[in-house]
Order: sequence, then C-alpha cells, then structure tokens
Amino acid sequence: MNAEISINSPIGIFDSGLGGLTVVKAIRERMPKEDVIYYGDTAHVPYGSKSKETIVGFTQDAVKFFLDHDVKCIVIACNTATALALPEISAPVPMLGVIEAGARAALAASKNYKIGVIGTSATIASEAYPNVLRKLNPECAIYAHPCPLFVPLVEEGWLDREATKMVVKEYLTPLKMAGIDTLVLGCTHYPLLAGVIGDFLGPEVRLVDSASASALELETILKEKGLLRNDGCGSETFFVTDGAAKFSETGSRFLGHNLQAIKYTPSR
Ligand code: DGL
Repeated sequence: MNAEISINSPIGIFDSGLGGLTVVKAIRERMPKEDVIYYGDTAHVPYGSKSKETIVGFTQDAVKFFLDHDVKCIVIACNTATALALPEISAPVPMLGVIEAGARAALAASKNYKIGVIGTSATIASEAYPNVLRKLNPECAIYAHPCPLFVPLVEEGWLDREATKMVVKEYLTPLKMAGIDTLVLGCTHYPLLAGVIGDFLGPEVRLVDSASASALELETILKEKGLLRNDGCGSETFFVTDGAAKFSETGSRFLGHNLQAIKYTPSR
C-alpha cells in the first residue's frame, strides 16, 4: 500500500458515467464521515455495448487515476466494469465491485429462489450474476435479460413516460411469466426506474439494487482493515472525462442533491 494512504484518505468510486452516483449516495448515507472521490468516464459511456478488452482498458485507467489520488480503497460501481474488468485487474488497495453484494442481497430477499437479473448487454452476456448466484446457491433458478434501452431512457430523465412503461413491459414480460419473486437491478441506472418496474411487476416481486448492499460490504472491509473513519465531515469531489455541465445537471437526479466540485480530467 502507498505510504501516503491512511484512514483519512478518500474512497475512490468509479463508474462509466453518472449512474455510479447511486452508489455514492448509498456510501455517503452509510459512512458520512468519509471523503469520496468519484471518477465518471463520461467520454466513453456507455460501456454496456463495448467489448471486454475496451472495458478492461478503461477500468485500468480509472484504477491508475485513483492510485495517483492516494485513495484507500476503490469501488467499481459500474456493473459492466465489475462483470468484465474486475476479475482481470489488481490494485495495491482493497477493490470491490457491486455484483457479489447484489447477488447476496437477492438471495436474502427471495423466497422461491426464482431470481430475475437485468443489466446491460455486456453484463448479461458475461453471465457474471448467474455465476455468483449459482456459486452462493446452486438451487436457484435465474432468468437474465439485457435491457439496453433503459440507460438512455434514464439519461433523458424519462423515468415515468408512456414510452418507458412500454419498454419495461416488453423487456420484463418473460421474467414476470417465469414467476420470479426477486429482480436484481444489475445496472447503476436501473434504481431510477424502480417505480415503473415495480408498478409492472407488482408488489410480490422484490427489487434489489446493489448500491446499499455494496456500501455495507465496503464498511465491513474498511472496519476490518482499520481504515474506517470515526471523525470528519465527509466531502465529495467529482471528476469526469467529458461534459461536466451535463453531469452536474443530470447527476443531481441520481444523487438527490446538487453536485459541487466537478472537475475535468482528460481520459487517458
Ligand atoms: N454503469 C453501467 C452499468 O452499471 C451502465 C451504463 C453503461 O453502459 O456504461 O452497467
């Protein structure tokens, strides 16, 4: 570990764009004393339709960025980067993704162990969620479906439009017919569609997102390593690789409050 790193060092949180702010929100709520540095690779978003090699390269760049900023740990908030890049990269500080935590939360929520998983095309094609779910519980039946139109709908702020409801119905009808009782929202953007998704699936289907489960896992890791802050006011600094103004405008929807201190960093 870098000599500069201490309990007071910031937590690095990475996403392909602004969706990872749902994870920032969960981490800030759980650990308000921590400083957070966010890196949103807005120049390259979306990752969900890109190849594994490309996603691994971008994620390695993000890890280098964080190490240059002396973070004490790295959270890969992006499900696509977690699925495709996390198994391929290493860092001298603790690094965690969001898939394992999301899978655990789904198994804890499910009663019939018929679990639906939705995500970007790359996340679903990687089978990362089914692999982890089956490792944790070989008995569960998994119904996975890519929902590539959800990310642009959320980016446009179309959270409750008729068009969005139609797309939800189109994508989720097979999962509803399969009798799932739990749905993993396996993408940073999908928690913002929880309202329309929940309306379509009905109250008997639990919606699980990995943000709060990952925040809990991070807290446990920091505690174990003696890196959890017990004082401090907590700060947020946001770096993006493009479009700081749009990030600021749309980001407040994800975070629930206005974003300050947005800085530009060139993509590597
Ligand atoms: N952050 C991505 C994820 O969680 C969604 C956006 C993208 O495709 O880059 O999978």
